[in-house]
Amino acid sequence: MRVLDRRGFLEAVAAAGVGVCAGVRTLQAADAVVEVNPSQPGPEIAAHIYGHFIEHLGGVIYDGVWVGRDSTIPNIGGIRKQFVDDMKAIGAPNLRWPGGCFADGYHWRDGIGSTKRPRTYNFWEQRMPPGLHAEEANEFGFHEFMRLCRAVGAEPYVAANVGSGTPQEFHDWVSYSNAPQGTLSLADERAANGDPAPFGVKYWGVGNESWGCGGNMTGGEYATAYRRFISQCPAYVPPFFVATGPRGHSADADVDWTETFFAGIRDARALFVRVDGFALHYYTDFRQTNEDGARFDAKGWYAVLHKGAHIEQVIDQHWAIMGKYDPEHHTKLVIDEWGNWYRGGTELGPKYIYSQAITLRDALHAAMTFDIFNRHADKIAMANVAQTINCLHSLFAAVGDKYTRTPVYSTFELYRPHMGARLVPLASTVPDLKVPVLDGDATLPGISGSASMRDDVLTVTLTNPSLQDALVTRIRVSGGAALREARARVLTHDDMHATNTFDKPHEVQLADLAARVSGDTASVTVPKQAVVAVSLRVG
Ligand code: AHR
Repeated sequence: MRVLDRRGFLEAVAAAGVGVCAGVRTLQAADAVVEVNPSQPGPEIAAHIYGHFIEHLGGVIYDGVWVGRDSTIPNIGGIRKQFVDDMKAIGAPNLRWPGGCFADGYHWRDGIGSTKRPRTYNFWEQRMPPGLHAEEANEFGFHEFMRLCRAVGAEPYVAANVGSGTPQEFHDWVSYSNAPQGTLSLADERAANGDPAPFGVKYWGVGNESWGCGGNMTGGEYATAYRRFISQCPAYVPPFFVATGPRGHSADADVDWTETFFAGIRDARALFVRVDGFALHYYTDFRQTNEDGARFDAKGWYAVLHKGAHIEQVIDQHWAIMGKYDPEHHTKLVIDEWGNWYRGGTELGPKYIYSQAITLRDALHAAMTFDIFNRHADKIAMANVAQTINCLHSLFAAVGDKYTRTPVYSTFELYRPHMGARLVPLASTVPDLKVPVLDGDATLPGISGSASMRDDVLTVTLTNPSLQDALVTRIRVSGGAALREARARVLTHDDMHATNTFDKPHEVQLADLAARVSGDTASVTVPKQAVVAVSLRVG
């Protein structure tokens, strides 16, 4: 996003007729000018950027998603009904499953069939508190996952087992999933298990974190494995293969992984070697600090937003390397794990490992992340929040019959209009904000935003990270389009720690915000610590 220097800012503000005295953001009644030009639409923002991830980890699947067919909790064939309803309400475009680290120990045959399914080892056993176990009951398997996807209307994205599986096992899974009934025995077996119609799964992850829990490989070793896993893969449905990418939040962003993987692939356009997506993981990782999800001060607030915003550099870094091997950029980024990861201490309960308190801070982090993803719409085919329920950056918390949407859910609601819309360039005059972080000072964009256009609706999303100043904001629409109407909604709270609990599930939620239109300009006041979505009718 273009951020003008002080002089440019004052000129732009003066040109906009806004009488303020600005400094390096000690703005009184801090005014902002945001310019958007819908006559120059950019690439489509893939709806899949607003995607999801559920893993057999802690309370994600069992309790979160799956309550069981005999449960008194309202369910659809064992799947928590409220979860389905809420996922539908935000138009969840996809679901990644079964992991995560769990994926490279998962054998899909364990989770099919109506006879008693085996109890198997779960990778996360090693992280369970003493006395608790993580054995996999396999009650929720492939058919249950596909029923969930169908109920939500989400595209399945299946992470296959490379770390402890074989190409044959992967290929059989693809055949079982996609071959028409009456062709392969595997297809007939699927039909006998209740699903005669092929599942038509297109998105296949070829392993997960193959540099770690997915096989401890080097980039070159993984490139070799990748080539073997995909070259004989059945193609009943044109597949979209996602290769394991780097751990973007490591100190050097794992650039070497990207280099050595693509060098090892040699020709990603060769007949039998295609890399459609390259998975980047980026956790805003505070595990080694004292930050937890619930208790933080201003430094903690800004530190999380600042580290979150760093993902933009990581995207650019890896995209540049990918371009060396694939100048036309056939391979897109799939950021299939992103979110905040705090040290423990705020779990929903002992067996809900990696669940954490989710506050307004996480909602703003998600908003800034989405603005970055939108602005890089040319590079990103998909992204998946880690994880959708009961784990890390969740949209939902559920324990038995208790359930709530977190503030992050509201961010997904606010950003929904961007899904599948065309990116519109956005520039802001707001100077950077100098903020305290855990280990000193840092700068954050004074306002973060993105814009998109669908039909005659221009959507502008804006995040004001400041804990102090509201931003009286003018959105100037250039390119000659007439503005007819403006509506705005806001997500904020007086308390930066605000959260939704089982007892107070509506503490943080969306509200309408006043917006005015005059000529080519819409005006809104973006409160401090807030995300706003402005919807403008243009034309
Ligand atoms: O999302 C939790 C874990 O984080 C995933 O299983 C793994 O892929 C990552 O390291």
